[in-house]
Amino acid sequence: MSAANKQTVFSGAQPTGQLTLGNYLGALKNWVAMQDEYDCIFCVVDLHALTVRQDPKALTEQIYDLAAVYLACGLDPDKSTIFVQSQVPAHAELAWILSTFTQMGELERMTQFKDKSLRHRNNINAGLFTYPTLMAADILLYNTHKVPVGADQKQHLELTRDVAVRFNGAFKPVFEVPDPLIATTGSARVKDLQEPNKKMSKSAESDLAKVMLLDEPKAIIKKFKKAVTDSKGVIEYDEENQPGVANLLNIWCAATNNTLHTALDHFSHNMYGKLKVESAEAVNAILTPVQERYKEISSDRGELQRILSQGAIAAEQRAEEMMVKVVDALGMPPRLRKQK
Ligand code: TRP
Repeated sequence: MSAANKQTVFSGAQPTGQLTLGNYLGALKNWVAMQDEYDCIFCVVDLHALTVRQDPKALTEQIYDLAAVYLACGLDPDKSTIFVQSQVPAHAELAWILSTFTQMGELERMTQFKDKSLRHRNNINAGLFTYPTLMAADILLYNTHKVPVGADQKQHLELTRDVAVRFNGAFKPVFEVPDPLIATTGSARVKDLQEPNKKMSKSAESDLAKVMLLDEPKAIIKKFKKAVTDSKGVIEYDEENQPGVANLLNIWCAATNNTLHTALDHFSHNMYGKLKVESAEAVNAILTPVQERYKEISSDRGELQRILSQGAIAAEQRAEEMMVKVVDALGMPPRLRKQK
């Protein structure tokens, strides 16, 4: 693997709750596709998950579960660096340093902080507030060029860039200033099956609203059959007036790698029933093999741990190189960890 002339990609997801079809089509599928063209680093961001109180046993399972899902979806440890954030201490160290380059006012403006502090009123901890500085550390540690994220993370990316520019300007150019890669295709916009005006979210209350990556094929068929549509009775692409139908069309396109044009040709003289069933079948065709690999991978915890340790060692090596430059720029004594 020659990483030398490739741009670096960094992304991550929190190990909280099962992933949805939206996460797969909007994120993981794209990550998998980037592995040849880019030098990719994919992280299970468990330190971020601590901003909400977690049960230790459940957290352990969720961390390995998410890592197993990464691999099952096709993230390949021979091509990419795949690791768990807490196993590379430089993330927390750099987050502290970056927090001193971040203004309270900037953090107060973050919409995710505002939303989360409304949802967790009895635990508005300092970590929830400084969350974006940890995310900035994740990204800036690796000379990252591109960060594939959902539109909801755009603001955090802008803050990351501002902090990088600020640090570079105050001292010397230490950090690469990363660009967000915000997927804008239909596949990035999988909507809630019950309220198709909302993004499909793993925290939706209704089970029928979301298709989970590990849902049984039968459950998936049922959810699609019960998907909310409208009473127009024609299959056209009209996000505003027929959001449910538009969502099913988008999902079918993303799952079969077809264009909207093909989809409309294919379904135009049909009823909603066919669109629902064929969308479900297309989703099952991509998720069933992922689920089989997931079962295999999660049946061998030792092997999974070995893969993650390898990833963490590789990540740590790179992160350490950055920390050497950071402490030097700040005027601190050299790092004691051995460089290879
Ligand atoms: N904050 C991101 C989310 O909630 C997860 C995340 C943490 C992340 N660190 C990151 C994403 C670095 C991309 C790059 O989705």
